[in-house]
Amino acid sequence: MTSNTVPDVHHVKIFDTTLRDGEQAPGFSMAVDAKMVVARALRDLNVDIIEAGFAAASPGDSAAVRTVASEIEGPTICSLARLTDGDIDAALEALQPAKKKRVHVFIGTSPLHREAKLKLTKDQIIERIGRLVRYARSGCEDIEFSPEDAIRTERDYLVEACAAAVEAGATTLNIPDTVGYTTPEEIYDLFSFLVSNVPGADKVTFSTHCHDDLGMAVANSLAAVRGGARQIECALNGIGERAGNCSLEEAVMALATRKDYFGVSTQIETTKIYPAAQALSRVTHNPIPRNKAIVGKNAFAHESGIHQHGVLANKRTYEIMDAEAVGMPSNSIVLGKHSGKHALSARIEALGFDVGQNRLNEIFAEFKALADATREVTDADLIKLVTGASEDGRAGPWRVRRTELAADFEDDTQPWARITMEHENGERRTVTEQGGGPIDAAFAAVCAIADVKGRIVSLDLHHLADADEGLVRAEAVIEAGDRRFTGVAREVDVADAAVAAFVVAVNQAAAFEAATAAA
Ligand code: KIV
Ligand code: ZN
Repeated sequence: MTSNTVPDVHHVKIFDTTLRDGEQAPGFSMAVDAKMVVARALRDLNVDIIEAGFAAASPGDSAAVRTVASEIEGPTICSLARLTDGDIDAALEALQPAKKKRVHVFIGTSPLHREAKLKLTKDQIIERIGRLVRYARSGCEDIEFSPEDAIRTERDYLVEACAAAVEAGATTLNIPDTVGYTTPEEIYDLFSFLVSNVPGADKVTFSTHCHDDLGMAVANSLAAVRGGARQIECALNGIGERAGNCSLEEAVMALATRKDYFGVSTQIETTKIYPAAQALSRVTHNPIPRNKAIVGKNAFAHESGIHQHGVLANKRTYEIMDAEAVGMPSNSIVLGKHSGKHALSARIEALGFDVGQNRLNEIFAEFKALADATREVTDADLIKLVTGASEDGRAGPWRVRRTELAADFEDDTQPWARITMEHENGERRTVTEQGGGPIDAAFAAVCAIADVKGRIVSLDLHHLADADEGLVRAEAVIEAGDRRFTGVAREVDVADAAVAAFVVAVNQAAAFEAATAAA
């Protein structure tokens, strides 16, 4: 028996399948470079196992598994394989450079899979499990077996299939809810049953692999842990076939936050969760929904006055976890029409202003009027309220006067942007910059004019279909020094909105630098 087959009753392994099941989902396919960005983030998270791909699926998948296996140290690297000699050989070949490797073999066991897909009898499948798990084990010590569609497989036959795999040398038994059909009570019962009834259960790790078709993947995975599973198969941001897999960040934080209830732990470095979620979003070009648990922008944001007051007094009133614990820069108080004076005063203070109580009362009245009109009051708006600056509603010394963007995709010239801005002292500056794209070039030009060294952290553009005035809302987050600044702008045109948002953010950075230099 290998050391990783000795089940540790309190340790739940995190088996990440972002690069295999996740990558299979439409809109999430990744080239090798992109996979490596995610693989490094998973290593930093300290996941136990990375399922890097399905080596037999394509030359690209095989190359990705091999590259991850060559470069990533720490986690076990795994490849999926159907229960055939060819797939197992392809997995072993691609995994060859890995220090720690696992082959994950699967075959359908439910009546639908046996009859409609495989056209094999129960006995033929059992024979194949015995023969090919043994074959895989002859090339790798760490073998995971999955009876696909286990949830819809007859219980006695599922026990028979699992027993055949254990007998042939499987070290992990993964019980997939392939179609996202089960419920927490049902899967708890199934795992309790399997742990007590599969011969040799004490020698293997039971694993859960749930899909989210009915929105229960995380709840089902946690129930499986209560039933005896000691490995969760999951993916960053919950990506995966159809509605996705169990979300890694939700399962991990549920186990950490409710350790009192589950009594188990993972080895995940939780402060690396947010950077990993962001890395995946960036390389797959899929934004994380605002309201996504744990890693969404709103996950630690508060707008209502009652909540903001509570959080400022003691954040445990409305927060069960710290944003910092998952690696988010800080918890954000969003200032809007529901916000109260405590939040306003805290934000003004954070922006470096010291206003007395009387002035705060005045600003609060203006703030409420503005919040009613604009939904969200940004830092830029607040600086304007406090300083009374800028006649066009944007804080800071610089305003855009002209924007020209160009990208000719037919020739080799780099996209460029020429921006003209005017300082409040009347000085005009025009700068032309090149960039990866015209928007990128525009940002470089805005920074050059304002003499700010910044980088774009994110740029969100939303078409406001029901707006009376501007049609595009742009929100730019930039980093200058070790601080982040947000600029929000509404314009008719996408490019104008993006540039205006940059200018708002860069103006704040310039104002902050000036204030810091003066202090
Ligand atoms: O959902 C599923 O059944 C799978 C298996 C290959 C484990 O992804
Ligand atoms: Zn799956």
